Amino acid sequence: MSFENGSGSLAERLTARMEEVESILQSEIRLDDLQIDPALLHLAQAGGKRLRPLLVLLTSELGDNPDREAVYDAAVAVELTHLASLYHDDVMDDAPMRRGVLSAQEKYSNSVAILAGDVLFARASAVMARLGSKAVAWHAETFGRLCAGQLHETIGRQSEETARDYYIGVLADKTGSLIAAAARYGVFAAGGSDELGEQLAQWAERVGVAFQLADDVLDIRSDGEDSGKTPGTDLREGVDTMPIIFLREAEAEGTLDEAGAQILNLLANADLSSDEKLGEVVSLLRAHPCLEATSDLARSWVDEAETYLAGLPDSDVKEALIEFGRATVNRVA
Ligand code: IPE
Ligand code: IPE
Ligand code: MG
Ligand code: MG
Repeated sequence: MSFENGSGSLAERLTARMEEVESILQSEIRLDDLQIDPALLHLAQAGGKRLRPLLVLLTSELGDNPDREAVYDAAVAVELTHLASLYHDDVMDDAPMRRGVLSAQEKYSNSVAILAGDVLFARASAVMARLGSKAVAWHAETFGRLCAGQLHETIGRQSEETARDYYIGVLADKTGSLIAAAARYGVFAAGGSDELGEQLAQWAERVGVAFQLADDVLDIRSDGEDSGKTPGTDLREGVDTMPIIFLREAEAEGTLDEAGAQILNLLANADLSSDEKLGEVVSLLRAHPCLEATSDLARSWVDEAETYLAGLPDSDVKEALIEFGRATVNRVA
């Protein structure tokens, strides 16, 4: 992501500060234990966009003192938490690739991936503790929501809610919660008020929902080169993501087109462990309007998110926040 439009000095500052975050991150992960460090460092060293720590730095610019050490700690703690969740998510989703490399359980084993994720969660808590008990309590709540979201996705809907509402709730919990936390922590760590932190968290949670909807589109549209992940992973695992929910809604309303019916039929009856069958569903979906409908829905979440920024005075930081939100939908990785 770049912030070149009229925000040169902010971009330079953020780039320099991200380098500092990166170096603290690498040293927090390393336990100086030659046996387990490679597994702990595996995904951090493979790359990743570092969006959450960037968001911490960005919202810290709204506080009185963005250069406090606490800001760097908060940025590192959110990326550690995110990293840990990726280790566990790839086990649950049986995902072969992450960040362009083998996922941790493919390279090592399920047990190693789960335990490495646990160590990273523990490291995140240790870093968070430097920010004080209020931050620790927020982080415990965030981590709980993230896991509850993953649980709701795994167990599936058993309530009267519509599939769409249930799914949006899952996205807000599993993805929105940590992105919201990143925005809140940045303000807090830089000495900003809790009210401002809450306002930014409301914005970021909605951006997080949009971000995950865009991820649903990427899972189908990307060729794996850009995303670093294997296309169609969600479909193979039988997870109904937003494009599929749109198809099921149309089916229930009797408005489903022929291609949509063919997709649902393949999802129900084909053996998607076969690359050929999965490829067939992916290419049918790529040509189907349910993908664009998902992108439109993501854009509507970004629009709603922006209403929470309306009260901020105009500044390069505000512009960068708006750009950050919009870029979540238009990304290719
Ligand atoms: C992946 O997050 C998991 C989701 C919540 C969609 P990112 O897309 O931010 O992954 P990295 O950190 O860049 O690898
Ligand atoms: C990831 O969700 C969410 C968390 C890691 C909490 P997904 O399973 O939908 O994301 P990707 O596509 O594997 O990154
Ligand atoms: Mg996954
Ligand atoms: Mg998942």
